[in-house]
Amino acid sequence: MITGLSPKKKRKLAFIFAEISKLKDEDIRDFFYCGFSNILKNCSIWLQKSNKPTRDINKKPSDPVPTFYKQIKVMMRGNDQFYELSKEKNHLEILSQVYCADARSVPAKDNSVSLIVTSPPYVTSYEYADLHQLTALWLEYTKDLNDFRKRFIGTSYYNKKDLILNSEIAEKIRNELLKRDSKIAEEVSTYFSEMNQVFVEMKRMLKEGGKTCIVIGNTSLRGVEILNAEVFAEQLQNLGLRIVDIIKREIPSKNLPSFRDEKTGKFARMSDKNKVSVYPTEYILIMEK
Ligand SMILES: C[S@@+](CC[C@H](N)C(=O)[O-])C[C@H]1O[C@@H](n2cnc3c(N)ncnc32)[C@H](O)[C@@H]1O
Repeated sequence: MITGLSPKKKRKLAFIFAEISKLKDEDIRDFFYCGFSNILKNCSIWLQKSNKPTRDINKKPSDPVPTFYKQIKVMMRGNDQFYELSKEKNHLEILSQVYCADARSVPAKDNSVSLIVTSPPYVTSYEYADLHQLTALWLEYTKDLNDFRKRFIGTSYYNKKDLILNSEIAEKIRNELLKRDSKIAEEVSTYFSEMNQVFVEMKRMLKEGGKTCIVIGNTSLRGVEILNAEVFAEQLQNLGLRIVDIIKREIPSKNLPSFRDEKTGKFARMSDKNKVSVYPTEYILIMEK
């Protein structure tokens, strides 16, 4: 584990963790664990700008106790705002249950969910398991990082056979990648196949008329455009969901609707090269069962 901390700082983190563990109310305990998880990177020598576990031996890790206080204050403010908004909208009575689960197998009943909102993983952009490494080790999600990595969609550590892509656009992307780099082709195919499993699970859970909102951007690997948004829309349609709206969002400000070109499979406004290169773009797919 990357920490490189002085024994004194490590003891302070361990002290905070032990105090949180003593809290009786599970919701409050989880709230503080989230705050604890959030400060771990600042309080270690993990290179601040990096999503990969890289040591920065010149870094001065933050002092755990004041950093934790500050983090908890920010979270309490956010919680207050959320509470006030929920009250204003008369949503306080709506029950919610939190599950920590793999998106391919969620413990919700068939036809029981009205709305899904998600920001799913990307393929090979970085290893989510590495990103969550400090939290995973402190909170004991795992003792074996190699095994932990395999649980994440988009990892380059795990390629499966017998993939179901359920999308012609995905097949085309795989074929283009195969000409350039067979390993990346396998990783991207595994990713599309695993996301298709997520969509099968979404369809199972959603009520008739229930909606799923998915925020996703397109990427490029080995010079091949990885049209995540187009592939997802096609997979979901092939599973029987309908497109309600596709919002193209050019970060930071503009909201533009976008349509698919039937020949290329691309969303039409994607071809506007200048805008795409100036602003990172993402799509919000809104689909209905
Ligand atoms: C693009 S990020 C979205 C992060 C999110 N918006 C947040 O603020 O935490 C994708 C997330 O999907 C998670 N993920 C990867 N595989 C998953 C799986 N099989 N089931 C559920 N989530 C997964 C990753 O760990 C990562 O946190």
